[in-house]
Amino acid sequence: MLKEMYEQPKTVTDTLMPRIKDGDIVIDELNMSDEEIKAIRKIFIVACGSAYHTGVTAKYVIEGLARIPVEVDVASEFRYRNPILEEGTMVIVISQSGETADTLAALRESQKLGHKVLGIVNVVGSSIAREADNVMYTWAGPEIAVATTKAYSAQLIALYLLAMKFAKVRGKLDETTFQELLEDLKRLPAQIEMLLSNKERIQRFANRYVGAKDVFFIGRGIDYAISMEGSLKLKEISYIHSEAYPAGELKHGTISLIEEGSLIIALATQPKLYQKTISNMTEVRSRGAKVMAITFESNKLMEKAADYVIYIPETDPYFANSLAIIPLQLLAYYIAIGKGCDVDKPRNLAKSVTVE
Ligand code: M6R
Repeated sequence: MLKEMYEQPKTVTDTLMPRIKDGDIVIDELNMSDEEIKAIRKIFIVACGSAYHTGVTAKYVIEGLARIPVEVDVASEFRYRNPILEEGTMVIVISQSGETADTLAALRESQKLGHKVLGIVNVVGSSIAREADNVMYTWAGPEIAVATTKAYSAQLIALYLLAMKFAKVRGKLDETTFQELLEDLKRLPAQIEMLLSNKERIQRFANRYVGAKDVFFIGRGIDYAISMEGSLKLKEISYIHSEAYPAGELKHGTISLIEEGSLIIALATQPKLYQKTISNMTEVRSRGAKVMAITFESNKLMEKAADYVIYIPETDPYFANSLAIIPLQLLAYYIAIGKGCDVDKPRNLAKSVTVE
């Protein structure tokens, strides 16, 4: 897992750079004309586990940049709920292995309903890659550790590229903003590298929480999507109970679980929502919780609002997941190692879930 985490700068480069040509985004595999892109009325994203979490992130990015409504569904739900796929709906399935039974079934269900499916897949020639109408490969290379890291990062890049492409073709992004976003994307590999090489701070923090019983991840918007993945990483390899909540939902029940010493990881990478998330952090701290915040270097508000702050370098807030997930992967990894867990093969889990 550690090896794959450290491959992320390369993975991101490999998924990104071949699709940037002469200052534009070129995704030949999409096989869609500009007219077809303009005709999209809705996007349905279907996946499982971490791939689903990239889909949740993509909802915010695609809706924000391209202004196309996006619905995200867990494949095991989608396949049995007689989904409504109206004309003009584009279906995207996301899968590292390309063999996940529920995702494959969702793909077939969509095709049965007369819709073309775009697969965002890592394993070349896998079932989903073969059956999807079009395939956009994430060039992450073989991923062996059960907990996905580099394939997750590659999926995010593929989805950002789609969002920007759609936004540009549909006239929602002016050229200057488009070029600024492209520059931000190109900076991500070096920024991920930097976060990976500054692991000591997160390692020290992890050592203090090896004995944690419950951890809560909170955030709003894209920060909620990051929270979901951070929480899954922690629970699947360290066996510590953890949950992710939209920060504003805490007071609707979950706050009753907060007590002296509870650990809260607060994601704060969306400037428009900083103050809202800070209010939620204040609420849990006043009940005795310790809060670790993850935020941009430029955000000095967290020094007072949190007990511990991990800074990530600046990028457009739409791309924050790609950076904020790195300390969360490291946190899960070092806590699991501290507990003596087999991080590469966690109990009860398989790399490809080929049965229901
Ligand atoms: O191969 P897939 O991307 O379709 O797999 C989906 C999930 O099973 C997978 O992301 C799972 O949640 C991982 N263990 C997460 O680390």
